[in-house]
Amino acid sequence: MCGIVAFIGSRDASPLLLDGLRKLEYRGYDSAGLATVTIRENEKEGFVTCKRAKGKLVNLVELIEQSGAPGHLGIGHTRWATHGKPEEHNAHPHRDASGDIAVVQNGIIENHNYLRQDLEKQGVSFLSETDTEVIPHLISKELQRLLDLGKLPSGSVLLEAVIEVMKLLEGAYAIAVIWSKTPDSLVVVKKQTPLVIGLGEGEFFCASDMPALTGFTRTILPMEDDEMALLTPLGIELYDVNGQRKNRSPLFLSGVDQVIDKQNFRHFMLKEIHEQPDTAELWVSRYLSNDLETGAFLGGPYDAPIFESIEEIQILACGTSRHAGMVGAYLLEQFAGIRTSVFFASEFRYAPPPLSPNTLTIGVTQSGETADTLAALAMEHQRRTSLNNIEFASLQLGITNCPESSLALQVSNILDIGAGIEVGVAATKTFLGQLLAFYGLAINIAARRKSRSRTEIRNLCRELKAIPSQIKDLIKNHNQMAESLAHRFADTEDVVFLGRGINYPIALEGALKLKEISYIHAEGYPAGEMKHGPIALLDQRVPVISIATPGVVFEKVLSNAQEAKARDATLIGIGPKIPETEIFDFLLPIPKVSEWASPLLTVIPMQLLSYYIAAQRGLDVDQPRNLAKSVTVE
Ligand code: F6R
Repeated sequence: MCGIVAFIGSRDASPLLLDGLRKLEYRGYDSAGLATVTIRENEKEGFVTCKRAKGKLVNLVELIEQSGAPGHLGIGHTRWATHGKPEEHNAHPHRDASGDIAVVQNGIIENHNYLRQDLEKQGVSFLSETDTEVIPHLISKELQRLLDLGKLPSGSVLLEAVIEVMKLLEGAYAIAVIWSKTPDSLVVVKKQTPLVIGLGEGEFFCASDMPALTGFTRTILPMEDDEMALLTPLGIELYDVNGQRKNRSPLFLSGVDQVIDKQNFRHFMLKEIHEQPDTAELWVSRYLSNDLETGAFLGGPYDAPIFESIEEIQILACGTSRHAGMVGAYLLEQFAGIRTSVFFASEFRYAPPPLSPNTLTIGVTQSGETADTLAALAMEHQRRTSLNNIEFASLQLGITNCPESSLALQVSNILDIGAGIEVGVAATKTFLGQLLAFYGLAINIAARRKSRSRTEIRNLCRELKAIPSQIKDLIKNHNQMAESLAHRFADTEDVVFLGRGINYPIALEGALKLKEISYIHAEGYPAGEMKHGPIALLDQRVPVISIATPGVVFEKVLSNAQEAKARDATLIGIGPKIPETEIFDFLLPIPKVSEWASPLLTVIPMQLLSYYIAAQRGLDVDQPRNLAKSVTVE
């Protein structure tokens, strides 16, 4: 989704801003822009240069190569359209009428219509359809008021104006503001939308996401909600919304930089599919005890004694993360014996179920920034606190791939899936990491509650230990198979994915992957539901991809597949190569494992098939149209 980068120091700002924006490209955007401030020789005041371009960043780069954007202070933005089409006039930065103030914003200004009408009544003309444009006009008016009172232009005056304007803005947003009259001041604000300050030597950065700071600095100051900062070449001043000074020490990021490198892969998505054995290996080494024979089943960092008293679990997530949560719920209920519900975070926040006692709330989000998931968790925290369910208000668990994200600031127990940066918009390795986190939780709870015997738990753990090498072999064997099968989808317009039980969420995930990167319409269905309606869609033009792994519903899945075959659908199976699976026209074989462990394998051919179908259509697999890597607006 939209990305912000800002810089102040003694180096040329525009190459640094472009570099930062390049590192945010993977998040999805449809236009880009930047603004800088510099001073002309023999003049006291500076001037703002603003450049914006529709489409890919390369268009902005060309523009800046042609006409330049001088200055050691600047703000940059990649925009993912919400209010107004992806056109140049809607791209950020936005400026006031004089062009002296430039603003970039991530998030949504909910009352922008009202503010806009009010400004229009005062004679302000708008040049865009965005919600953001009200901000520079409001700051301009406020600055004029302060100057009329006799104040002189300074960073503090700009800050004062922004504080006043914040009082008028409703919504969740992060903003960065520059003013031609203060060529050594940058003001940034965070309200429920991520923003992090980076500290260099005699220079400072600010970005909506950590990857933008890679290569610039490892010393960071993540901003908290309702916080603002004045950045000058001399330092950072942190304030609350009332203008009161705050103090907080920066953090130093250890570990290796998250390098965004496609290596020899054609797309990041393919590279990330290939990285899944490492994701699984890391989880096994971190969380599965080496000595399974002793019964020490670790499964995750759940030391808090309160975990003992959990009676129920609720999982809040969106998209692929919700599918991981659905597999998790199956494991938690059926393996660990604990009642578990999964919710669309976006629905939960407005229609939560009645409060249940001793309930653990889990938020699943690879980015740790999804607005709906964060808001649903916050709402649940607030709801339990106000009903004096304090202990369980605070017992929230976040499962994420970004332990420095807003989720980690909000939730006290964090499980880092450690998959490394995922650049492809379509989640693959982070999905696997989320699944594994749920296996760990289910094992841990089953061991604590003794809902499964030691032998059953040990058997599952043994299977999980073998998963990294099984995934590796699967990817090796399926690459070519999926690629050649994908040719058959050249003219396909609709696909149905079927699964049951623990593999029903994998059918949903298969359909989501296919539709988001290939733009083919796809439905995921629990196989038994087909005959209650969707079977009407089937004919020889609609391939049916059915997950069929031995277990409690194996025969049922096979007979549901037969029903599809009787309607002339091409049947593609994902399951072990055994006599029963010969009914499929094509089989994408997986090793024979228990039904419990099967989703960790059935998802791999799904990912590869979707990838090759989209790649063969020549589509932008890593940045599909209309999608963003982290969805920071509601
Ligand atoms: C699909 C996909 C999305 C995300 C969803 C939630 O491939 O990536 O459906 O799963 O937007 O994102 P996170 O996990 O960041 O909360």
